[in-house]
Amino acid sequence: MMISAFCEWLSNTAVSMVIQNVYWIIPTVQTVHILAIATVMASVVMLDFRLLGVAARSQTLPELAHRFLPWIWGAVVVLLVSGSILITAEPGRDLLNEVFYLKMSLLACVLVLTFGFQLLVRRGGEFWEHRRMIARVTAVVSLVLWVGIVFCGRWIAYVAHG
Ligand code: HEM
Repeated sequence: MMISAFCEWLSNTAVSMVIQNVYWIIPTVQTVHILAIATVMASVVMLDFRLLGVAARSQTLPELAHRFLPWIWGAVVVLLVSGSILITAEPGRDLLNEVFYLKMSLLACVLVLTFGFQLLVRRGGEFWEHRRMIARVTAVVSLVLWVGIVFCGRWIAYVAHG
């Protein structure tokens, strides 16, 4: 109830009205969201495939992490900002939709996993090279979580909301 009152209030604010009524804002923000998703997924695939041992084997894990982790964190910030603009336009569509909370929970899990990976790789990357099984499981869990987030992003539109 409190959330639906908040959604009602937010959708009647001047900022929300502008986003709803200026025809190019939502498609532009959606385009930015999708480009950031492409950036995240390309970087994640490079790192996770390296962890699995099937790509970029000529480069060390610390080298690859140094190259791609900043793209992941930067794109997540862009996703947060563009996603917040989309929520402001139509709050009930997301904040009253359980799939949105599933997406955010999966995102929280994968960000913790990515941060843990980053901490261990900063110590030199030996951890991952010596524990092949843990590296493979981490890569698979990471890929499943990211694909799950993309799926939920699309799914939101097809689930009835309050
Ligand atoms: C960081 C916080 C994020 C927020 C607040 C957010 C928010 C949103 C919102 C509000 C929508 C529109 C959903 C709708 O009403 O139909 C959306 C769409 C989507 N999001 Fe996110 N998102 C975030 C991160 C991500 C991430 C990390 C991914 C995947 C890597 C992602 C993938 C998608 C996809 C695939 C869509 C559908 C795009 C479309 O069909 O136009 N989002 N997101």
